[in-house]
Amino acid sequence: QPERIFGPNEGESEAAKEHNGQKEGVSAEDWDKIKLDDDVPEAVKEPKRMTHSRNTSRADAAIPPPAPASEPSKPSATIAKEQKITPFDVEGAVDEEGRNLGIDYNKTVQKFGATLIDEALLERFERLTGQKPHPLLRRGTFFSHRDFNLILDRYEKKQPFYLYTGRGPSSNSMHMGHLIPFMFTAWLQRTFNVPLVIQITDDEKYLLERDVKKQAELMKKYKLKKPIDLLKHYRQMGQDNVRDIIACGFLPEKTFIFSDLSYVGGAFYNNVVLMAKTLTTNQSKNVFGFTDSDNVGMFHFCAVQATPAFSNSFPQIFGERDDVPVLIPCAIDQDPYFLVTRDSADRLGYKKPALLHSKFLPALQGANTKMSASNENSAIFMTDDAKKIAKKIKSHAFSGGGATQEEHQRLGGNPDVDVAYQFLSFFEDDDAKMAKLAADYRAGTLSTSQMKEECITKLQEVVESFQKNRAAVTDEILATFQDPTRKIDPTPSPRNA
Ligand code: TRP
Repeated sequence: QPERIFGPNEGESEAAKEHNGQKEGVSAEDWDKIKLDDDVPEAVKEPKRMTHSRNTSRADAAIPPPAPASEPSKPSATIAKEQKITPFDVEGAVDEEGRNLGIDYNKTVQKFGATLIDEALLERFERLTGQKPHPLLRRGTFFSHRDFNLILDRYEKKQPFYLYTGRGPSSNSMHMGHLIPFMFTAWLQRTFNVPLVIQITDDEKYLLERDVKKQAELMKKYKLKKPIDLLKHYRQMGQDNVRDIIACGFLPEKTFIFSDLSYVGGAFYNNVVLMAKTLTTNQSKNVFGFTDSDNVGMFHFCAVQATPAFSNSFPQIFGERDDVPVLIPCAIDQDPYFLVTRDSADRLGYKKPALLHSKFLPALQGANTKMSASNENSAIFMTDDAKKIAKKIKSHAFSGGGATQEEHQRLGGNPDVDVAYQFLSFFEDDDAKMAKLAADYRAGTLSTSQMKEECITKLQEVVESFQKNRAAVTDEILATFQDPTRKIDPTPSPRNA
């Protein structure tokens, strides 16, 4: 049956009608059959909507998508092992010679039944908000969505909606890869001027750590005696992360940050229970790849991550209103959670969440690598000083330049795989500047070290302003953001800045 995303009393745009005519809703039986690393049944595919590609007439057209891992695998390559993307495992496809082919994002979108963000959508966004889309949006790091058009409908009609994102605390110090999505969300919140909830899944990190040895080592390292001490450890990591998150610049009067271990109860827990009942263990196994020997908490956690997508989980913001839809910016690997949530929302009489999906951000070493908190040289940490940033970029950022200066001048460089160029493209708003850097690099007139200098200057600027914000986060501010009794006004109001 056709799905309805928003209530029957609200006008729908043409796009919404079109979308509602398409079947995305998955029946309970279908869910039992779905394996996201297998073929998805027809019901979740939206093949017609996959064909959009970026219009090349825009000023920034010369700028390639930042993650080189996104290059679709060459048709000639024989795939021996398909790519796998779940919230717990991300692996590119492997060819017969054992080469990693990287993540094919178009294929991922097709498989998950999402929609590529196209030029028309970005133009509509700009027209409605009067704001040029963020570099991460217009250069394709946020590349796919579900129902973003319906959120724009609401914005246009001044109807309320809110934002939701989250973080599973896995280390004390966050690096740039962790924080870029939060910086983007802060920008989105300021653009829309809407409430935002941020879930800190300290429970998830305790439950879902399959590596028992790793947790045993943690206990030893921090002299933790009982499991409850370990839980406290995760909660503390979460609190350290909250400070970093706050420094990304959210609207304080409209942002609620909560740790699952501290906040879950009351109205929120009511929705966890409703959500849990809509899920079978079969679905959990198929969608997330769990097995019979995994702990029951893992199977259940999905209900906890789904719940912030329902507005009545936050009575201090929405009272008992359950009809305020949410927009969730997240990395594409989190999509399985919200695909399940969308399906269950229908059955609970709630609104389906809309989504904006991002690609994975590359490590300094380039394509097919991920910034890792445990590898100092893979990432820029938000605690790095200006000198360290310069050193890391100079000695570790993968270069798309020629092997020698002579060769670079003769053959030119490739900005598509150049990490300095890519990192710069996340933050540099000036399209003309980016296009010129790319062109000069290709022509060989701009050297690798000049490209790196540009990147270093920008990153130093971003990190310095972050550090200033971070230093200003007092214990009191930390507590205020997480105060569950603090009222937040959900009414849409004009943009303030
Ligand atoms: N599971 C996410 C992680 O491991 C955290 C998370 C919870 C999240 N809710 C979210 C991420 C909503 C994006 C959007 O980091």
